[in-house]
Amino acid sequence: MKVYISNNIDALAAVAADEIEASLRRSAAPVLGLATGSSPLPVYRELARRVKLGLDLTEVTAFALDEYVGIPVEHPQCYAQVIRREAQIPLGLDAARVFVPNGRATDLSEACVEYEKAIASVGGIDVQILGIGSDGHIGFNEPSSSLASRTRVVALTAETRRDNARFFGSADEVPTTCVTQGIGTIRESGSIVLIAQGRTKSAAVAAMVEGPVSAVCPASALQLHPKVTILLDEQAAVELRFADYYRASYTVAELVQDDS
Ligand code: F6R
Repeated sequence: MKVYISNNIDALAAVAADEIEASLRRSAAPVLGLATGSSPLPVYRELARRVKLGLDLTEVTAFALDEYVGIPVEHPQCYAQVIRREAQIPLGLDAARVFVPNGRATDLSEACVEYEKAIASVGGIDVQILGIGSDGHIGFNEPSSSLASRTRVVALTAETRRDNARFFGSADEVPTTCVTQGIGTIRESGSIVLIAQGRTKSAAVAAMVEGPVSAVCPASALQLHPKVTILLDEQAAVELRFADYYRASYTVAELVQDDS
């Protein structure tokens, strides 16, 4: 794992965008994996900035990680809406090539199988953007998820529903279940870029990077992936035992952007 630590979020986002651009360029039919939530927003901002400067992502196919089960499509927190608002439009992606799991399907198991087939049909995901939950989830693979799991319906933990209450009126309004790509699905991505900010993520981050590989912290499965870039602010990195080693190994250019 490459672990970058900096409080310069724009600089972290630039490292992520460099990795994403390089992975997509290497592919004849580029496929990007998208995450929702707060963590990837600086990365989308940086990619959108590059799009304005000429980066062309119109040929990119994109797959979202997850979706709430039963959420009305017009709800602002329906991930189909979130992805459209925060990634598809600002990144100039072609709406016809952007896919989100269907949390409203009558046959959810069938919809999960179809989602896996859709990913496979374009040759798999080249680069996956991830956040991490305070309980160590990636996608919505909660603790105890099989590290070989595929896209499926998952019940959210009380902790995740509390964490996501800020996007709804209250924790009670957060749906109880979701459809998520599995850890096995995520691990097949060519490369992975994970970004985490804040003290509430520090225990999960330490377990992901330095803990044993265990379903207790689903993100720890990323230790088994050969191409993972982790981007952390100082608060998210505070429980890392080898933080100084990572700082010495992976330096973040303290860039100052001038958009004028
Ligand atoms: C979102 C997702 C989740 C989030 C995680 C962190 O599609 O799959 O794993 O990345 O819950 O959420 P934020 O970034 O809002 O703290």
